[in-house]
Amino acid sequence: MISFLLPQASSMAPSVDRLFSFIFWTSLACFLIIVFGKLFFIIRFRRKKRPEHLTPYITGHMVMELSIAGVLLIWVMVIFYWGWKDYEKLRVSPSDAMEVYVTGRQWSWQFTYPEGQRSAELIVPKGKPVKLIMTSEDVLHSFFVPAFRVKQDLIPKVYTSLWFEATQTGTFPIYCAEYCGTAHSAMLSKVRVLEPEAFEDWQIGFQMAALALKKKGEEKDLAGIGKNVYETKQCMACHSIDGKPSVGPSLFGIFGKEESLEGGATVTVDENYIRESLLNPMAKVVKGFPPAMPSMQGQLSEEEIQAVIEFIKTLKGEKP
Ligand code: CUA
Repeated sequence: MISFLLPQASSMAPSVDRLFSFIFWTSLACFLIIVFGKLFFIIRFRRKKRPEHLTPYITGHMVMELSIAGVLLIWVMVIFYWGWKDYEKLRVSPSDAMEVYVTGRQWSWQFTYPEGQRSAELIVPKGKPVKLIMTSEDVLHSFFVPAFRVKQDLIPKVYTSLWFEATQTGTFPIYCAEYCGTAHSAMLSKVRVLEPEAFEDWQIGFQMAALALKKKGEEKDLAGIGKNVYETKQCMACHSIDGKPSVGPSLFGIFGKEESLEGGATVTVDENYIRESLLNPMAKVVKGFPPAMPSMQGQLSEEEIQAVIEFIKTLKGEKP
């Protein structure tokens, strides 16, 4: 029904619309039954001159009341179950998804690719899942692409994520859907969906330029910047990258690993854990290591944090 008004440009859009249409049409049917039922009863049982038509006193009708409540309960549970199934699909991103960092601020969007591209627009290929890892530099924002039927808040100090797979090429508007100050309504951007070959060309063009810079000693890609941070901010003094524990745990193969913490809890090493460990290292200290790490609060930009995460993600596979 709403596909007349909005393009269905992602793999999730048809399922979101199916549930929306179900709720819309069943609600409309209930509305009409109630309105026309009322009209019928108003006319059928209107006040007449002859007193024998007085309505008898009614105290209730157990069977009818229970069946109305039962039907409504089933209707709500169907919507709940259906919504839950779709929500699961929306929340869990496929493991082969391409990742892009999104930073929201008053009042603009920045998209940073692991290869190092920075863009005010989101450029993605058609037919490939894309996972956005999002945070805000100031207040709450919300990333909303109506054509994809996806929306997710950006929260300062933590990463939230969202995924989609574009099914149509073209340009679709991005809105901020959380009031974030005077220019909230102007916090706009676009998703540009390219054919896979065109997207590859765009990336290759960038990689050539980045390679030229690399030769001059300037890093462009996030993992490279992260490696610089690792070396210049003294991370290497306590964290090895070859798997050998030192003052702190080695960073080799740590991404995605389950770590036991002092105090018995466990944590999965993901973007949020690395971010927290950089800014507030005492929050979750890995078991068997001293609480010795200084906070990097105020010393790293948002992008440098993303870069360190990307660097740590590359430390896997064959040991160096
Ligand atoms: Cu950002 Cu509203």
